[in-house]
Amino acid sequence: RDMYSFDISQLGFVLTEPLMDLPEYYQIWMEIAHNICHLINTHQLRSVVQKMPMLSINLLSSYRELRLAHLALGFITMGYVWQEEKNPAQRLPKALAVPFTLVSRKLDLPAILTYSDCVLANWKLKDPAGDLELKNMDLILNFPGNESCRGFLLVSWIVEKAAVCGLKGILAVRMAMEEHDETGLLKGLNEIAASLKQMKKEFNLMHEHVNQTEFFGTLRIFFSGWKDNPQLPNGLVYEGVNDEPVYLSGCSAAQSSAVQSFDAILGVQHEEKSAAFLRHMRLYMPPGHKQLIETLCAPPRLRDLVVPSPPLHQAYNACVSALEDLRTFHLCVVAKFIIIPGGQARATAGRCPLGGGGSGLGLGSTGTGGSNPMLFLKSVRDATHNALIPCP
Ligand code: HEM
Ligand code: ALA
Repeated sequence: RDMYSFDISQLGFVLTEPLMDLPEYYQIWMEIAHNICHLINTHQLRSVVQKMPMLSINLLSSYRELRLAHLALGFITMGYVWQEEKNPAQRLPKALAVPFTLVSRKLDLPAILTYSDCVLANWKLKDPAGDLELKNMDLILNFPGNESCRGFLLVSWIVEKAAVCGLKGILAVRMAMEEHDETGLLKGLNEIAASLKQMKKEFNLMHEHVNQTEFFGTLRIFFSGWKDNPQLPNGLVYEGVNDEPVYLSGCSAAQSSAVQSFDAILGVQHEEKSAAFLRHMRLYMPPGHKQLIETLCAPPRLRDLVVPSPPLHQAYNACVSALEDLRTFHLCVVAKFIIIPGGQARATAGRCPLGGGGSGLGLGSTGTGGSNPMLFLKSVRDATHNALIPCP
C-alpha cells in the first residue's frame, strides 16, 4: 500500500482543505455549532437541541462533508452533555443521537468528539493564499475558554504538522528496510529525529497561547467523555439508537496517530496497562491511520536491523532519545495545566465547600481520555527510555 491509501496527505494525518459549511439542509446544525459558546454560557443549548428536527444524513455526499458533520455533531454533543458541569446529561435526544451515530458509522469513528475532529479537521486559513502558521489560522468551531481554546487546538495542530517530516521519514525507513538500503535507512532515521525535535519546539507555543485557569476551569470539561469518568458512571444513552448506555472515552491527544506511529516504527514496548490504553485510543482514530500504525507494528523489526551498524545504531538511539525528550516535555505541560490547577481547586474547595462552579473539579486530575495522567505518562516515558539499545 502507498501512503495515500492510509488516508495520509501532504499534511500527514491532518485533513487537507476541510469544508467550512454543509449543504443548506443542515443549516440548523451549523448554526448551533457556530453559536455554541453563547448557547452554553447562557444555558440555552440543551433546550435548543431538544427542539432540533430529525434530519436525514442522506444529503451528506462527500468524505469532507461527513467529517464536518462529525465535528459539528461532536461539538453539539459535548456541549449538550457538559452545559451544566455539575449535572451532566445522561441521555442524548434522538434528533442528535441518531444522525451522529449514522455519520459515525459511515466514518468508522465512535459517536463522540475525537482528536481527528477538533484538531485534524477543525482549521482554516484567514488568508487562503497565506502560510500555514498560527497567526494566519483559525478554528472552524470553538468551545468556551476564549483564546485558550484556539491556542490549545491550533498549537496541537502545529505539533501535528511538525510530525509530517517524521512520517515521511517513517515511510522512507520502511522502504529502505525492504530494499536493504542502508543509506536510505540512515536518512529516514535522521528525518524522524529532526521531526521529533521540531515537535517539541513547537509544543512550547502552548505556554504562550494557553492560560492554565481558562484551560483547566473552563475548556477541558468539554473534552470529557462517558467512560472511566466518575461524573458519568452510567455512561450515556443515545435515544433512538439503543436503550443501553454507551461508554466512550473523552477527546485527548492520546488519540493522535503521530506519536503511536513513532512508537511503532521504533518498536517501543509499553507496560501492559499503558499499552492497552494506547490500543484503545486507536478505536478513536480514522481507520486508515489506525491501519498504518498496525502495519508499522508488524515485522520486520527495525531494532534488529540497526544493531550491526554503528551509524544506524546511533541514529536509532537519537530517535528514541528525541521521543523520550518530547514525552518528558509533555509531562511538564501536564503538571502545569492539570496537576497544579487541580491541587489548587481542591484546596479552595476544602476552604469553601459551597464554592463556585466552573472549577474544573469534576474531572479533577483525571485525563479527558480517562487515564491517571502522571502514572500513565511516566510509564510511557520510561518505556521509551528503555527502548535505547546499549552499546555492545
Ligand atoms: C496523553 C494532557 C498536549 C500528545 C495525554 C494525557 C493527558 C494529556 C492528561 C493522558 C491521557 C488522557 O487521559 O487524556 C495534555 C495537555 C496538553 C497536551 C494538558 C496541553 C495543554 C498535547 C499535544 C500533543 C499531545 C500538543 C501532541 C502530540 C499526547 C499523546 C498522549 C497524550 C501522544 C498519549 C501518551 C503518549 O503516547 O505519550 N495528554 N496534552 N498532548 N498526549 Fe497530551
Ligand atoms: N487530554 C487533555 C486533558 O486531560 C485534554 O486535559
